[in-house]
Amino acid sequence: MRIAVCPGSFDPITFGHVDVVRRALTMFDEVVVAVAANTSKNPLLTPERRVALATEVVADLPGARVGLVPGLLADYLREVGACAVVKGLRGPSDIDAEVPMALMNRHLSGVETVFLAGDQSLIHIASSLVKDVARYGGRIDDLVPAPVARAVREALADEGRR
Ligand code: PNS
Repeated sequence: MRIAVCPGSFDPITFGHVDVVRRALTMFDEVVVAVAANTSKNPLLTPERRVALATEVVADLPGARVGLVPGLLADYLREVGACAVVKGLRGPSDIDAEVPMALMNRHLSGVETVFLAGDQSLIHIASSLVKDVARYGGRIDDLVPAPVARAVREALADEGRR
């Protein structure tokens, strides 16, 4: 059983993430979409909401499941018995950000990271941009699955009421 972990903040999960999970499923028996904390980001959605949305979105992908990383990704990799981390790359700036994390995760766990080039038609999609577009009333329905679009709009409306 070859298990890969696809980690990220998933704040929120986008069509770009789903594309990477689909590609990873062609190479691994099981792909765990692992929702983790990124200390350099201030999330819009709670970890539980991000897990719930990701679970709904990958429900129709056989072999995919969702987990919550309570601490270090390296510890989680051991816990689930992962043989690889899978990350999508949209361009050079992703490489700059991802390679140090891949090296640190290998140092801590011995697990290699596999980088997959994202689909050309989706590489403009970033969770941060999705939130920004939605925040200013732009259309996000072709960037994220429908339940995610609704959740982002609701979370932004709640934020506005606070
Ligand atoms: O989607 P992101 O924000 O680029 O994903 C980064 C993430 C969440 C995968 C990374 O910050 C992470 O692994 N967080 C868990 C804590 C951890 O292990 N930190 C050390 C990373 S080398």
